[in-house]
Amino acid sequence: MTKPDLLVEFQSVFNTPNLPRSFFAPGRINLIGEHTDYNGGHVFPAAITFGTYALAQKRDDQKLRFFSLNFPDTGIIECDLMDLAYNKAHDWANFPKGMISYMRDSGFPLSTGMDILFYGNIPNGAGLSSSASIEMVTGVLLEALFELDIDRLQMIQLGQKVENDYIGVSSGIMDQFAIGKGKKGQAMLLNCQTLAYNYAPIELDNHVIIIANTNKQRTLAGSKYNERRAQCEQALTDLQVELSIQSLGDVSNDQFEQYKHLIQDATNRQRAKHAVYENERTLTALQQLHKGNLEAFGQLMNESHTSLQQDYEVTGIELDTIVKAAWEQPGVIGARMTGAGFGGCAIAIVEKDLVDNFKSNVNQIYSETIGYAATFYTAAIGDGARELTEGVY
Ligand code: GLA
Repeated sequence: MTKPDLLVEFQSVFNTPNLPRSFFAPGRINLIGEHTDYNGGHVFPAAITFGTYALAQKRDDQKLRFFSLNFPDTGIIECDLMDLAYNKAHDWANFPKGMISYMRDSGFPLSTGMDILFYGNIPNGAGLSSSASIEMVTGVLLEALFELDIDRLQMIQLGQKVENDYIGVSSGIMDQFAIGKGKKGQAMLLNCQTLAYNYAPIELDNHVIIIANTNKQRTLAGSKYNERRAQCEQALTDLQVELSIQSLGDVSNDQFEQYKHLIQDATNRQRAKHAVYENERTLTALQQLHKGNLEAFGQLMNESHTSLQQDYEVTGIELDTIVKAAWEQPGVIGARMTGAGFGGCAIAIVEKDLVDNFKSNVNQIYSETIGYAATFYTAAIGDGARELTEGVY
């Protein structure tokens, strides 16, 4: 869908001649380090140039009016600034509502209502974090419209809290962090236990990152995400009987092999194995990238996928088919699922000159096996959540 003229849409939806302010928050990909964030491990995500736009203006009263160009059929969703409780009927608008609610509850004075128009060009439910993107775009628009002195980390943490407590998905901090602090051309290594992070330039020579959308929709809330998290927590509790650790992120591969018998349940043991090995893999992957060894980085991406398939069991036939087809193509350095899994997107590092060949071959294998087509995008790594320059819509 080509981006509509957002100013025209805003003025017509809200029937106003005013010029609103304009904001953007990206989506994200995760290069490696999957299902490690809530296990106190490392992740290596990057913000992308697809994301959520929001045009917003304050009102004179206490009304909040939300409209999304992605869900025009739901029309304007309206509520009062004093009544921000989760409401199923408010559907997608619960994400911005949750953010407004938690920012206000954290003591940030939000004195009036607002009209806000959203438009996202991240495919929904594709595992590229459209929900964290809408939370963070709401965060930055509140910061600007009400001149709030809010630390970016606090905004990120409030976004995660919306997801955890307001929406009810026990997700980690990776998505809001990548979206809140993303930088053009850079991925970031984040230690999810200490929240220490470093940027790392993504220079892929003559390669690009291709996002391959399986078009199998997934929603975090409806998925087995919370179950995986609980399984890892149980494994941690079992290990703590003998090990003095705070999270699975504290455990090395060797230590895991030595103490894994403490984990009572075989499935939980498998889940924990993924979390531990994936954490170490992520650190090794970054070292390889620093050395300029792209081949080794790609190999670790492949191993990450296999571990998510066999030990964590969050891939499914669609992601496995698309990733396996990607592995078989010439010019592919590495490929894996990205995000929570259970459908959604995979990423592949592909030689520029072979991208067209890659897309058509992968799509052919995918459509023949799954029965419908995949969609491909070239990922560009962009900046994090921000206000757009005046006059840019
Ligand atoms: C989702 C969650 C993240 C993270 C990933 C898996 O995107 O929101 O916190 O757990 O899944 O790595």
